[in-house]
Amino acid sequence: MASKGSLADGVWRALRPVPGLVQPDVVLPDVADGALVAVVVAQGQVCWVGPNDAVPAAYAALPQWDGGGALATPGLVDCHTHLVYGGQRANEFAMRLAGATYEEVARAGGGIVSSVKATRAATEDELFALAAPRLQALLQEGVCAIEIKSGYGLALEHERKQLRVARRLGEAFGVTVCTTFLGAHALPPEYMGRSQAYTDLVCNEMLPALAAEGLVDAVDVFCERIAFTLAETEQVFQAAQKLGIPVKLHAEQLSDMGGSALAARYGALSCDHIEHLSADGIAAMQSAGTVAVLLPGAYYTLRDTQLPPIAALRAAGVPMAVSTDHNPGTSPALSLLLMANMACTLFRLTVPEALAGITTHAARALGLQDSHGLIASGRPANFVLWPVAEAAELAYWLGHKPAATIVRQGLVVADGLGVCAVAGDHHGV
Ligand code: NIG
Ligand code: FE
Repeated sequence: MASKGSLADGVWRALRPVPGLVQPDVVLPDVADGALVAVVVAQGQVCWVGPNDAVPAAYAALPQWDGGGALATPGLVDCHTHLVYGGQRANEFAMRLAGATYEEVARAGGGIVSSVKATRAATEDELFALAAPRLQALLQEGVCAIEIKSGYGLALEHERKQLRVARRLGEAFGVTVCTTFLGAHALPPEYMGRSQAYTDLVCNEMLPALAAEGLVDAVDVFCERIAFTLAETEQVFQAAQKLGIPVKLHAEQLSDMGGSALAARYGALSCDHIEHLSADGIAAMQSAGTVAVLLPGAYYTLRDTQLPPIAALRAAGVPMAVSTDHNPGTSPALSLLLMANMACTLFRLTVPEALAGITTHAARALGLQDSHGLIASGRPANFVLWPVAEAAELAYWLGHKPAATIVRQGLVVADGLGVCAVAGDHHGV
């Protein structure tokens, strides 16, 4: 299951770049957008990108792979997931079908807290075994970097368990995993009515301990009426800032709490959900360079009707990412391409916006903008060759996993296009 695959070192010729997602080193005046390019990989790194017929002679001794005009994108980036948890919540799906809202389900003791019970009851190995096939489903579609949050443990040992599993998944599958500590996701039952005491625990004990163990790449909070207040959110941000850890926020999902503007003041990497984002929030995110992460899977599952302010975000030039928000309650989604489709259909993103949303802008939302989300020299080789005639197909099919050729961390981990006969089959990803 792990990162098996053959070395991707070689000259990858005849690739059709998606404009904006491939950055050539050499731009010849007669090379128009859409002309074929070559990508040279050496020692797992991209070391040259340019016109197909201008590959430097120095690379002639490397293996030569013929992409046959396949569309090339960077490896996909899923920048917001809750992938590690025990149990599942199909019962809530049924409750919602019978008319209950997300808030009603949560207030009735379901929701996040029911996943907390199942997660606490599971061992680290059990959580790993549950999360592995979910990760595999995402990897088979070309995901090369993924964020995984804690937030279903809500106690030091259980949050640790989730984050350790996230790290182990990254190592076992040879994929970049960014861990996010979301201790302030919900109030655990034993702290009912003692929100301040729990926030203190998150800030003074859980976060410092997990950070010292190297388990925390970023810190997140669920800032909402049914979760944490603006003041509690700021307290967590201050604790993160003290440790030099970047922050992000579940913001304005169900109501306008002003969380995005607060997050922007702390230089947040991203504000996520943001259906109820205000003009002030947009302005604050714009000036802080904070990415807007759109989560159409949660919007769809909750049958939300409040659209995120796409036109205003676009007009302000706020980068928009698109992610699965994979979680057992509001978005049991395991296809980033489906999310791209839904971002177009439900949120009216253009296809280029959706594709940037699952690559370049998603990488920025994780602070990975210098290593992921773009095919360019000096980066680890993470790219996907797609069996499609045009880029729009990536956002057009519903629930189809194209048999792509996938290069992840310098290895050919799937070769659906048969570019290099030596690579393993599509199912080994
Ligand atoms: O991103 N909004 C808060 N957190 C998750 C939902 C978690 C759950 O319901 O288990 C989300 O949608
Ligand atoms: Fe989420």
